Amino acid sequence: MHSKSVMELQQFADQLLSGGLVVFPTETVYGLGAVASHDQAVQEIFRVKGRPQHNPLILHVADPTQVKDLVNEIPESAKKFMDAFWPGPLTICFQKSEQVSDVVTGGLPTVCVRCPDHPIAHKLLSLVGKAVAAPSANMSGKPSTTSFVDAQDQLEHSSVMIIDGGVSPLGLESTVVDCSSEHVRLLRPGCIGIESLEEVLGELIEDASRGEKILSPGQTLEHYAPEGELTVIVGDRQDRRNWISEHLFSIEEPYLGYIGSCPEGFQGIQLASEENDFEKLTAQLYKFLNQADREKACKIVLEIPKSSHSLFSPLMNRLEKASQGNIVRL
Ligand code: TXA
Ligand code: MG
Repeated sequence: MHSKSVMELQQFADQLLSGGLVVFPTETVYGLGAVASHDQAVQEIFRVKGRPQHNPLILHVADPTQVKDLVNEIPESAKKFMDAFWPGPLTICFQKSEQVSDVVTGGLPTVCVRCPDHPIAHKLLSLVGKAVAAPSANMSGKPSTTSFVDAQDQLEHSSVMIIDGGVSPLGLESTVVDCSSEHVRLLRPGCIGIESLEEVLGELIEDASRGEKILSPGQTLEHYAPEGELTVIVGDRQDRRNWISEHLFSIEEPYLGYIGSCPEGFQGIQLASEENDFEKLTAQLYKFLNQADREKACKIVLEIPKSSHSLFSPLMNRLEKASQGNIVRL
């Protein structure tokens, strides 16, 4: 991982403190940040991303003690999660305090907060000393970005400053858990699985991430989608390869995200060398989708092994949206 000295990061902290935007790396994906109390700067995030105003932003803090000013109360459930998982890839939804602007929350009475576990994000947030609102650093609806180059490519039309922090090691947006009411709910699956949350809480949690009821504004929108048509093939290796040879030879230059070796006659990117290496596969997902866009691929095909791995479900959550349900289950 790239490291940055405090001196190097001070200019980015100053940029944020003066009402500017900065793209910074986190352990999940890159974020497009502004100081949360600066309404105009936060509005600029929506403009740069082309994001609908009603889709609220997550606040990022360097230290869990900063949460108390942002929320009405810290429920017992949230305390347990903060102790167990912060700093880390878990976002917690609270009842917001008056200090948090409606511009950040899209008018909702709740606010999502996270304390990232990434040395550059942590140093930057410490230098700023205030909560930083940051969605993923991608154009609205497009794949998230997990590297400096991908963030730069997607935001090239804007003049935002970007910190080069190498590759985001996890590669998937944080798990979002709602602790704003008595009934704890999962709003977005991520690297911290629902079972781990349940173990810490000592009770079962409702998975509201795929329910009919829309609890998170982001659930309704098109998301993570590359320009080309994405097809996801889920199955055992031999079945996937049979499907590829039956269906893809007639198609001009399909771009493949493959596991293990590349099927002969095709081009693309290896996502993992081993079938069950879901950490690697997850970490490479957005790199692959952004690369497919860079190559102007019209037909994108992604191999996913059938698995009971805990990352399978968060991965499929993103892929169902990215492919608009274009999933072949073998
Ligand atoms: O890993 C991450 O969470 C990354 C990095 C940069 O921290 N951020 C991220 O932000 O993924 P974004 O804006 O791309 O996704 C945040 C999701 C959206 O679906 C949004 O609707 C939801 O969280 N959200 C934010 N505030 C909410 C609230 N008060 N109630 C319900 N959902 C909320
Ligand atoms: Mg996003």
